[in-house]
Amino acid sequence: MRAVLIVAALAVAGLLAAGQARADSGPPKDPLAAYGYHLYGQYCLGCHGGNAAGRYKEPSSATGFGPGREQQQQGGIGPSLHGVGALAADFYLRTGYMPLRRIGLQPRRERVFLTNHEIEALVAYVASFGGPPIPTPRPELGNISQGQALFAEHCAGCHQIMGQGGYVTGALPPALVLATPRQVAEAVRIGPYVMPKFSRSSISDRQLDSIVRYVEYTKRPDRPGGWGLGYIGPVPEGLVTWFLAVPALLMLCLLLGRRFKREPGA
Ligand code: HEC
Ligand code: HEC
Repeated sequence: MRAVLIVAALAVAGLLAAGQARADSGPPKDPLAAYGYHLYGQYCLGCHGGNAAGRYKEPSSATGFGPGREQQQQGGIGPSLHGVGALAADFYLRTGYMPLRRIGLQPRRERVFLTNHEIEALVAYVASFGGPPIPTPRPELGNISQGQALFAEHCAGCHQIMGQGGYVTGALPPALVLATPRQVAEAVRIGPYVMPKFSRSSISDRQLDSIVRYVEYTKRPDRPGGWGLGYIGPVPEGLVTWFLAVPALLMLCLLLGRRFKREPGA
């Protein structure tokens, strides 16, 4: 009986705590994060909700709050930012993905109108709800050919082998020319929008260094001279063979054949 009472009391306490977390807890003590709290009220509150707890339009969550961002939950207005950390805040703000213009759009690179100080303040505010820090990739420790193999395996299906971007159902994977090494490392750990998120067990930090180094390389590939053909590999190169080299060889055969035919009569 006593055990049941204790469990019930704990459940009530848990509910009260959850209720409290939902009420706006005011600006954080840290001055930078406190400035971020005010900017958040101006630019982000409408979508991400009070206390960055997320806003959902599904009637099932009557309170209007929901769990973290999952691909299936993208009917929400703005996901909870709890636990996304400085990692996601830095990426989404410095790419100009956020503040999103309108609900329902895929976040795209936009001109960043926030100042560096404002971004730092917003990052500090979002980070006050916990989560991973901003990564520091070290591409100089990576290896281009390993990076290329990993990129072919994990990324090229969406971004194309030379990182020019592509098309998948429901989204446009962007070209990677504008992504800085830090943003590549961030994107891999976050998995923005429909991009999958890669944990350290599927791509280690060292492998990520190689991927970053390879992405840097795709921005200015070695040009051995000749025709780049879009750098998309053997298929266009094969087409060139078929359409130029094969007719040229046929012509040569015809010419030679005619010469030999003429010879006995000559
Ligand atoms: C299922 C398709 C898919 C795969 C696989 C994928 N991505 Fe993405 N990636 C996307 C989409 C879609 C976006 C745009 C996200 C958005 O709009 O919020 C994106 C965005 C990015 C960005 C930000 C680019 C910018 O400038 O806006 C980087 C960097 C990136 N991906 C790198 C990678 C790397 C590295 C891998 C492999 C480890 C990878 N992606 C795998 C679909 C994918
Ligand atoms: C018009 C609505 C809207 C506004 C305004 C907006 N967001 Fe978002 N935000 C979204 C949506 C929708 C997503 C989910 C996008 C995705 O999956 O990539 C998102 C995603 C994010 C994420 C990534 C969360 C994760 O799980 O990785 C961060 C961080 C973020 N927003 C921060 C901000 C900040 C900071 C502001 C204010 C400067 C802001 N947003 C303004 C709608 C909005």
